[in-house]
Amino acid sequence: MVCDLRVLSRNALRGSRVRSPTFFNKAYFLFRAYSIKLTALSNVAKKLYHRIGAIAWPRPSRRILLRFSLSHIFVTALLGSLLTKKSMNASVKTEMNAPEIIEQRVETLLASMTLSEKIGQMSQLNAGEGYAPDYLADGLRAGRIGSVLNVVDVKVVNELQRIAVEESRLGIPLMVGRDVIHGFKTVMPIPLGQAATWNPDVVKEGARIAALEAATCGVNWTFAPMIDISRDARWGRIAESLGECVLLTSELAVAMVEGFQGDDMSASGSIAACAKHFAGYGAVESGRDYATTNIPETKLRNVYLRPFKAAVDAGVSTMMTSFSDLNGIPATGNEFLLRQVLRDEWNYDGFVVSDWDSIRQLQVHGLTENDKESAFEAVSAGVDMEMAGDAFSHHLVSLIEEGRVSIERIDNAVANILRAKFRLGLFEDPFTNPEVLPPIASEEALKAAKRAAIESVVMLKNDHAVLPLSSESLQSVAVIGPLADAPYQQLGTWIFDGDVELSITPMHAIHSLVGHDLDVRYLRAMENSRSRASDTFDEAVQIAQSSDATILFLGEESILSGEAHSRADINLPGDQAELVRRIRETGKPVIAVILAGRPLTLTNIVDQVDAILFAWHPGSMGGPAIADLLFGVESPSGKLPTTFPRVVGQIPIYYSQKNSGKPASWDNVAHIDDIETRAPQTSLGMSAFHLDTHFTPLFAFGHGLSYAAFEYHRIWTSGNEIAMGEGITISAELTNQSDVAADEVVQLYVRDLVASITRPVKELKGFRRVHLEPGETLTVDFLLHTDDLAFFGRDMQITTEPGEFHAWIGGSSETQLRTEFRITPGN
Ligand code: BGC
Repeated sequence: MVCDLRVLSRNALRGSRVRSPTFFNKAYFLFRAYSIKLTALSNVAKKLYHRIGAIAWPRPSRRILLRFSLSHIFVTALLGSLLTKKSMNASVKTEMNAPEIIEQRVETLLASMTLSEKIGQMSQLNAGEGYAPDYLADGLRAGRIGSVLNVVDVKVVNELQRIAVEESRLGIPLMVGRDVIHGFKTVMPIPLGQAATWNPDVVKEGARIAALEAATCGVNWTFAPMIDISRDARWGRIAESLGECVLLTSELAVAMVEGFQGDDMSASGSIAACAKHFAGYGAVESGRDYATTNIPETKLRNVYLRPFKAAVDAGVSTMMTSFSDLNGIPATGNEFLLRQVLRDEWNYDGFVVSDWDSIRQLQVHGLTENDKESAFEAVSAGVDMEMAGDAFSHHLVSLIEEGRVSIERIDNAVANILRAKFRLGLFEDPFTNPEVLPPIASEEALKAAKRAAIESVVMLKNDHAVLPLSSESLQSVAVIGPLADAPYQQLGTWIFDGDVELSITPMHAIHSLVGHDLDVRYLRAMENSRSRASDTFDEAVQIAQSSDATILFLGEESILSGEAHSRADINLPGDQAELVRRIRETGKPVIAVILAGRPLTLTNIVDQVDAILFAWHPGSMGGPAIADLLFGVESPSGKLPTTFPRVVGQIPIYYSQKNSGKPASWDNVAHIDDIETRAPQTSLGMSAFHLDTHFTPLFAFGHGLSYAAFEYHRIWTSGNEIAMGEGITISAELTNQSDVAADEVVQLYVRDLVASITRPVKELKGFRRVHLEPGETLTVDFLLHTDDLAFFGRDMQITTEPGEFHAWIGGSSETQLRTEFRITPGN
C-alpha cells in the first residue's frame, strides 16, 4: 500500500519542474512515520520483519516495504481513523524523537545503506542556482548527496527534498544549510554588536527570529554561531564573533544555540545550529584570515575550546572545522581536536562538517600530496561531511577498498549525520509550508531588532554630558558623514538574505524623531568611508558652523570586515579623520556615531569629539535605535565585548592577559618623547610596555557609559573561605545617582593569585544586566562555585586549585572595587 502511494505520488507529480508537496507526499510521510514508530516500538513486528524479510526478500529495499506494510497494518488496526492528521503528526514526531528510538532508527537505516549511499550522506553540495539543475536532481536520485547549501527558494528546496525522499532508493531527506549569521531578512546587529548587549535573552531572541524567517525558505541548518575567541581587531571575522572573553562568548553561544534550535528541534521554525570554527581560528597570525595559529594546549583548552564545550553541552547539532592550521596540523585534519577532544572527552554525538572545500585545502597547506590523501586525513581525523568539495565523493571508496579507512569509521560518520536529520524531524516532515510560520519581518521581529540595536550601542565617551541632545534646547543639528544614510552598509557582513528595504537609516530616523522640532541638515560629505576626496568638506564645515551641534556618522562599510577582509591599519579609513578635524574647528559640539565591523583605533579622533557612540553594524533597525539614544529616549547600556587598542601595535591586547614578571604600571614606564639622547640602557622603566604608547588600551573590555550615573560602593563575600566543591556569594551594592532610569551591566571578575600554571590578571566570572530607577540602590549577588574557577593545568586535567583569590565587581574590567577569599582543600 505504501508502495502504491509512492508510485501514485511520483506519477502525479511528474512533469513539472518545481512542485509543492501534495496530499500524497504528506500522506506517505505520515504513513511512513507511523510505520517506523511502530517498528521501533513493537518487538513482535521487528522480529517478524527480520525473520520473514531475510528469508523472502534479501534486498533491503523489499524488506523495507515489508516493514512498512506490517507496521501499517498494525497501526490501522490499533488506531483506525480515530486520530486527526494533525494530532497524529505531532504525537508521532514527539515519540519518534525519543533518543533510544532515534538510535534504533539510525541503526536500521544504516543497515540498509550501500557504501555509495553512505558516502552520499557525507557530501554536501552548493546548490545556489535558484532551480533544481539536472546534475543535482540526478545526484539526489542516486543517493549521492546528503546536504545542500545556499538554496533559499522554498519551491526549489521542496522540490529537492521531494526528489531526495521520493525518488532515491531510501528516501533520506536533506539538510539545507545557509549562513544565517545575524538575521535572515530582518537583520540584527552583527554578532560582535550583539555581544555588546551582554544580554543572552536578546541574543537568543535574535537567533529565534532568524531561525523562523530562514525556516520559511526551507533552510533547516544555519552555520552559526561563530564562537571563535577573537582578540585581534585586524581580523575581519572579529565582526562575526562574540568577542574576546571566554565566559561572555560561551554564554551567548548557548543563547544562540537555544534560539536557533528551540526547545524542540523537530518543531517547524527550529533549525540546526553549527558551532564554528573548530578551533583556534581567532588566533590567526597578525589577523590575516586563513593564516596559521600556534596555540599552546593549556591556552587552547582554557580559552579557545571553552565556548565550543558550552555549545556542545547546550546540544548544538553540528560543528564546523576551521580553515586554519593549528600547531602544524590544519583543523580539518586534526585528530586531536576532532577525535580526542570532541568525541573522546566531550562525547559529542552531532556531526562535523568541514569548512568550504577545506578538505582539499589540506594539500595547499602542505599536509598532503593530493585530494585522496586529504580525504584520508580528514575522514580519519573525524570530519563527517565535506562542504562544497569532492574529495570524499571521489576517494572514500578506494580508501575503504584499500583498507586504509574502515567501514566502521564511515558508519560512524553517517550515523552522526542521520541522527541530526532524525532529531530535526525531517523524516516525518521534510517539506516546508511557509504558511505555518510567522511572516517575515513581522512587527515583533523589527521590535526585537531595534531592542538589540539599542542595547548593543556603546557610549565610549560623553564629555560635559553633551549627550543626550535635547530637541527642545537645540534649533538645528547637522547630520554629516558617509554612514548616516547608507541602508546597506548598516547591515554589516554576512547578510546574504538581508532585506535592505527594511533598513531604516539614522538620517531618516532622526528626521522622524525630531524633524518637526528642529532643523536637521544632512550632508554625506564622503562618497564612502574610504574616500579621499575632500572637496565637500568646506560645505560640511559651513553646515556644522551654522548648526547647534553636529552628529558625524563615521566608520567602515560592511565590506571592510568579515571573511577575508582583514586590515593592517584599523584607523578610520579614507579622509574621515580630516573631516573630524575640520568640523572640530567650528567649536560647536561634535558627536561621533561610529558604525564598524571591528574595534577601531580612535586615538587620532578621540579628543576631537565630545561624545562617541560606537554602534557596530547595527542591522535593519539601527537608525531608530541610534536616534532614540542620541535624543535620550533610551540610555546607552552596551559594554565592550572586546578591548579597543590605542594603536594597532598593541595587538593582541585583551583584559585577561597574564601579569608577566615585570608588569607595567604608571610609575615604571617611560614615553619615547621623554628619553634623553644618551640615556643608559637601564634608565627606563623595565616593564612590559611600549615606549611609544600607553600600556593601557584606549577603551577597556566591559567599558560603556550611560546617561545615568552608577556608583558601586560596597563589595562583600558570604565568607572568607570556601571548601573545595562548595560555593560563595560575592555581592556588590550600586546606586543610580542620577535622575535617569537606565540599565547597567554589572560584571564580576576574579583572579587566582597563585597556581600551578600562571593565571590571567582578571577573568570575567559573572555578569548581569539590571535596571535601576533614579536614586535606586540595588544589591547584585553572584554565586560562584569552586568549579567555576577550574582550569586546565600542567597535566591537562581540569581542576580548581586551593589558594587566594581576588574578586572585583563593577561596570567594566577596570573596576577597582575588590574583595578577597580563599579556597581551602576541603575533605
Ligand atoms: C566560511 C564559513 C561559512 C562557509 C559557508 C566559509 O568560507 O568560513 O564560516 O559557513 O563558508 O558559506
